[in-house]
Amino acid sequence: MSEVIVLTGSPGVGKTTVTDKALESTEKTYQMVNYGDKMLEVAKDQGLVEDRDQMRKLEPSQQKNLQKKAGEEISKMAEEKPVIVDTHSTIKTPRGYLPGMPEWVLKPLNPDLIIVIEADPQEIISRRKKDQEERERDLETEEDLAEHQSMNRSAAMAYSVFTGATVKIIQNHDGKLEEAAQKLSRVFDEG
Ligand code: AP5
Repeated sequence: MSEVIVLTGSPGVGKTTVTDKALESTEKTYQMVNYGDKMLEVAKDQGLVEDRDQMRKLEPSQQKNLQKKAGEEISKMAEEKPVIVDTHSTIKTPRGYLPGMPEWVLKPLNPDLIIVIEADPQEIISRRKKDQEERERDLETEEDLAEHQSMNRSAAMAYSVFTGATVKIIQNHDGKLEEAAQKLSRVFDEG
């Protein structure tokens, strides 16, 4: 299997924005795949949801099923060309944190590098407010977000213990998008 990079961060932290910018200046080429898109395709086919924000409210067993199917499809893609998987280290569900990469997803995916994008909780809250017309974002306090980001770091290190992947943390602060993208593009090119 060729290189697999897993990109994580709490919803609204700006992981998609930073990565799109970083890929403008990277030397290597990657296939970009959004785990949420893959899961949504399967969930819609099964008539479970109409939009992506309904997925994290499904029963954990249903989410695990979708997660598994999406993981299988992404593993197949990674056999052909380096892939960046836009996903989550943990997903906050009404019944607690769900691991984004449980053992049955982590093993076939076998990532080489796990990136954790972070910002200050207050920055994430105001970014979520900006896209509230298009998205059904959860209302979270600064304390909730600090806890979620800490769970994301812990889960990323646990994934790394099982796979040997390295974990890189990148800060995406307000007004520092360019800086975050440059750091990320250097990490992509160093592989
Ligand atoms: P996903 O598709 O990842 O959606 P999301 O979690 O809502 O994350 P987004 O991509 O919308 O946010 P982002 O962090 O990329 O922020 P953005 O760049 O848009 O996942 C959807 C669903 O799929 C999940 O809820 C879950 O149910 C499911 N799922 C996914 N993976 C799973 C897995 N492994 N297992 C189980 N379920 C899974 O930026 C946000 C805003 O910030 C924008 O307005 C942007 O302009 C702004 N911004 C960004 N950077 C800056 C900056 N530096 N300064 C100022 N503003 C900035």
